[in-house]
Amino acid sequence: MNVFITGAAGFIGGSIATGLVQKGHHVTGLVRSAEQAEELTALRIVPVVGTLDDKALLIEQARRADAVINAASSDHLGAVLALIEGLEGSDKPLLHTSGSSIVGDASGGEHSDVIYYEDNLPAPTSDKAARVAIDDRVIASAQEGVRSAVLCNTLIYGHSLGVNRDSVQLPSLVKKARKSGVVRHVGSGGNIWSNVHIDDVVELYALALEKTRLAPSISLKAAKRHFWT
Ligand SMILES: NC(=O)c1ccc[n+]([C@@H]2O[C@H](COP(=O)([O-])OP(=O)(O)OC[C@H]3O[C@@H](n4cnc5c(N)ncnc54)[C@H](OP(=O)(O)O)[C@@H]3O)[C@@H](O)[C@H]2O)c1
Repeated sequence: MNVFITGAAGFIGGSIATGLVQKGHHVTGLVRSAEQAEELTALRIVPVVGTLDDKALLIEQARRADAVINAASSDHLGAVLALIEGLEGSDKPLLHTSGSSIVGDASGGEHSDVIYYEDNLPAPTSDKAARVAIDDRVIASAQEGVRSAVLCNTLIYGHSLGVNRDSVQLPSLVKKARKSGVVRHVGSGGNIWSNVHIDDVVELYALALEKTRLAPSISLKAAKRHFWT
């Protein structure tokens, strides 16, 4: 399959791109610099230099591809609209990267026994409302001939595949702790963050690529070694 992926030099996008190449797919990846383009070429990923604001470029790449994965940002509406425009009426997969924080309650440590189901999610906290609106737009593109899915990754750990990039999550917390000499936590520290290994994230996206070719729009959540649909 010819796959176009944004964020191809990033932790999530770079790992997925490398994993898909290893599985025999032909992958084209969006990067922002010539250095990153060189890094991708060495990994047998075809680089395209540009940004998420390059609407015409995103539409063109989406039209050329058999499937699109948006892994550069969970929060860039313009890029999502451009990718949907490029895929409109094509019946091709669009996998969008979101996060499990869309169901976070920002309590900072209050225990809760509430279980969320994807057809009955809580109203998002104010800082996540725009992200949830983007997720909803991706899901709604199923009505416009796009086989769309939103993958709500939890906190991802592990070393990236191929590309030289750390996760924006644990390594940045560790760096802050090292710099200040203090390990910090949110609120009382009683809040729970689910984790997923990057290898499992790559497997989930590969699975979702396959499944969205066969099924109408779905939303997937990944945590630890379990996948929920
Ligand atoms: N890592 C996690 O545990 C996790 C979990 C859930 C959700 N997420 C979300 O998933 C998204 C990707 O996360 P990540 O960990 O892979 O981050 P990352 O390692 O920083 O990768 C993002 C990649 O996208 C590129 N990018 C960002 N904005 C761009 C733009 N405007 N135009 C072109 N390229 C752009 C970056 O380019 P440069 O290299 O040039 O900066 C980078 O290569 C984020 O929105 C994050 O909040 C992450």
